[in-house]
Amino acid sequence: MFFRERSGDCRYRCGRKSLWKLLSMHHFAYKDGVLHAEDVSLPRLAADVGTPFYCYSTATLQRHYRVLAEAFQGQDAVICFAVKANSNQAVLATMARLGAGMDVVSEGELRRARAAGVPAERIIFAGVGKSREEMAYALSEGIFSFNVESAPELVALSEVAAGLGVTARAAIRVNPDVDAKTHAKISTGKSENKFGIPYLDAAALYAEARRLRGLEVSGIHMHIGSQITDLAPFRDAFRLMRDLTLELRGAGHEIRHLDIGGGLGVPYSDADEVPPHPDAYAGLVKETLGDLGVRIYLEPGRMIVGNAGILVTRVLYAKAGAGKRFTIVDAAMNDLIRPTLYDAYHEVWPVSEARAGAAPVLQDIVGPVCETGDYLALERALPPFEAEELMAVMTAGAYGAVMSSTYNTRPLVPEVLVNGGHYAVVRPRPSYDDLIGLDRLPPWLSRT
Ligand code: LLP
Repeated sequence: MFFRERSGDCRYRCGRKSLWKLLSMHHFAYKDGVLHAEDVSLPRLAADVGTPFYCYSTATLQRHYRVLAEAFQGQDAVICFAVKANSNQAVLATMARLGAGMDVVSEGELRRARAAGVPAERIIFAGVGKSREEMAYALSEGIFSFNVESAPELVALSEVAAGLGVTARAAIRVNPDVDAKTHAKISTGKSENKFGIPYLDAAALYAEARRLRGLEVSGIHMHIGSQITDLAPFRDAFRLMRDLTLELRGAGHEIRHLDIGGGLGVPYSDADEVPPHPDAYAGLVKETLGDLGVRIYLEPGRMIVGNAGILVTRVLYAKAGAGKRFTIVDAAMNDLIRPTLYDAYHEVWPVSEARAGAAPVLQDIVGPVCETGDYLALERALPPFEAEELMAVMTAGAYGAVMSSTYNTRPLVPEVLVNGGHYAVVRPRPSYDDLIGLDRLPPWLSRT
């Protein structure tokens, strides 16, 4: 069966896997024979907004935030949603209403978070290459803290803050040289990765920070990677954070907050390894860091928004290849690049429930872009989709729309947010004039 994962089915199974399934449950399910986002039918949405489009579920976003917040109840913890995972204003505003802070990595993301109503004091600015202009802007906004990733960046932050006559609060990102056992392109905590400073250099840099003007370095930051499905690397990293906190305190530094990053994985398919449950993750944080008297900052992205979003696409053509079928759809690698970039697996669900029961045939789901790497799913046993049929590419809410491009001059696809029986287009499809109008002809080529 290619179709074991309907959200309703898991409710009645038991065991660790189904427990996490229940907790990671989303609100995309079949009703009256068609797939719905909460109470809104996807064929209706497709008729109203056209395909392809991203569709997000408010109830799912809220659920995941609450599961995490409840797991950390009783600990002094702040959840800062990683804006890079999904930066639509409507998603950020939904998070902000729940009380989330935000982890931003550019002035653009900071502006998005502020525009969505996130208080500056709940914003952390991370990233390996902040410009001085970005630092100045973040200081003028009064954000909570910077996560600094190198000695020269620390000097730059000191100069910018002192120049403005303010104090920048900061944590130093330490690279623990821990293998997160995730895809190489999203593993960040190994010594060969560009992130943070080597663990053994940390004490010297904290000492140096004390000599610099305009800084209050009172935190430690770590983030070891994304889509992590095992607690062990977290345990190793948190233990190192603990040791470093004690060592730095011993050297007279006041360490008041630990930013433990994001990275908790989500199940993309039944065959996947089961990611740790948020309760187990929170338990580990308590066990390893709980007695330090620090405030914990979390930077989750994927686990909040991953399966709160889908990409809905329509079949253009089905053609027989040598030994397999090619189902050509109107979404492509420019709309969802994860399969191409990370060999990522996304489940594909027919929008018509009747089709879900059809005998599966081996096929590639491919887009119109002129590259062999343009696919959404390879060698899958799926129903024999025909022209005009709709399908949903699941678990596309994180790192989907945000990583899209206009390659092949394909307009960015719209985003829709559903809430119960209501929906709103939260990013409209741009027109071709909008798209082409971004270019300018130089005077020597101008027709006027
Ligand atoms: N904090 C920092 C410093 C990060 O670099 C990241 C993600 C996060 C938090 C959030 O991680 P999450 O909880 O979402 O795993 N485009 C890739 C993922 C890149 C992740 C980059 N950093 C993908 O589609 O899988």
